[in-house]
Amino acid sequence: NKIVLAYSGGLDTSVILKWLEEEYQCPVIAFAADVGQHEDWDAVREKGLATGAEKVVISDLREEFVRDYIFPAFRANAIYEGSYLLGTSLARPVIAKEQVRIAEAEGADAVSHGATGKGNDQVRFELTYLALNPRLTIIAPWRIWDLDSRNKLLAFAEKHHIPVPVTKEKPYSSDENLLHISFEGGILEDPWNEPEEDMFKLTVSPEKAPDKPTYVEIEFEQGNPVAIDGERLGPVEMMTRLNELGGANGIGRLDMVENRFVGMKSRGVYETPGGTILRAAHRDLETITLDREVMHIRDSLVPRYSELIYNGFWFSPEMRLLQATMDEAQKTVNGVVRLKLYKGNCMPVGRKSDNSLYHEAFATFEEDEVYNQADAAGFIKLNSLRLQIQALSRK
Ligand code: ARG
Ligand code: SIN
Repeated sequence: NKIVLAYSGGLDTSVILKWLEEEYQCPVIAFAADVGQHEDWDAVREKGLATGAEKVVISDLREEFVRDYIFPAFRANAIYEGSYLLGTSLARPVIAKEQVRIAEAEGADAVSHGATGKGNDQVRFELTYLALNPRLTIIAPWRIWDLDSRNKLLAFAEKHHIPVPVTKEKPYSSDENLLHISFEGGILEDPWNEPEEDMFKLTVSPEKAPDKPTYVEIEFEQGNPVAIDGERLGPVEMMTRLNELGGANGIGRLDMVENRFVGMKSRGVYETPGGTILRAAHRDLETITLDREVMHIRDSLVPRYSELIYNGFWFSPEMRLLQATMDEAQKTVNGVVRLKLYKGNCMPVGRKSDNSLYHEAFATFEEDEVYNQADAAGFIKLNSLRLQIQALSRK
């Protein structure tokens, strides 16, 4: 009887809006999520109404996105395949959760999205819908309609008087939020093609970054960043400030080929300026505040944890288990890291904490109270026992 569509105001979701109305003969609510992308929200609202939405709902999810999605992931040092900081993967569950809330509040019985049938996003949206409200009907137009080419899409738009953006179509697709902007598809599909400099939006190139380093101090409480250079900042201001600092210094560009959950490899280019600084600072603070064994066990879980996020299992029992484990390790991650930002690099150069396990008095090669160098002889002897036995039995 009523559909809530995740709507961006772009051509694809505008066509979907019209198509849903025609196909299902019911009102459609256009829901747009503000997760920190640069967008003209008045224009999105107007366009949604002009395209036939019964109602346009724009939700400001920025605070929730940073506090309940980005920060938890960074407390866990989440990273996919050693490189990707999961900017899009983390935004999908917060958007889908709000979409479910709106569907319930508006008495809608169906939800729809504009993700294609070949990508990760369809999985993330739908796993979230199904985890939160399995009674909602899911409509994924890209998997069912026959508008399977750019030209058919444009023809449909023209026939239904959907305004096609006057600006020239970008030769790739992008997705922006407070954590990153991603680029993929189009001219980027050839993994040998280096992107043009003018594609980048959040960062200057390292070559154009200032010739003098920028120093910053980031303070953490239980693994969350809370202040920059002594100034306390809320989650949204924190990400905004970190993005400015990283962007100005050419930090956080990434060009990679990744494994999509649905099976194929895909080339992606990313700008994650603030996230790159945040992860480096956080890891560095952990070097003095985490116990060795806690750190090593935690590290072994990072690939699994990150895979859950990438694959769309944010709302799952295994995710709750891992997050609780990750956060248990963060209780002592309090303190300040000093970083030097310079031409694409982000180098920790100092760290301090009231919870520090590092003690100059123990690390020193001078005489100390807890460590007797003579004890090391037995330590090495017993650890080498197996190695000695193998060597002896070889001859
Ligand atoms: N490949 C990245 C991911 O799966 C980015 C996806 C970008 N999505 C988009 N709709 N443009 O997380
Ligand atoms: C899409 O296919 O809708 C975007 C790419 C992805 O989800 O991986």
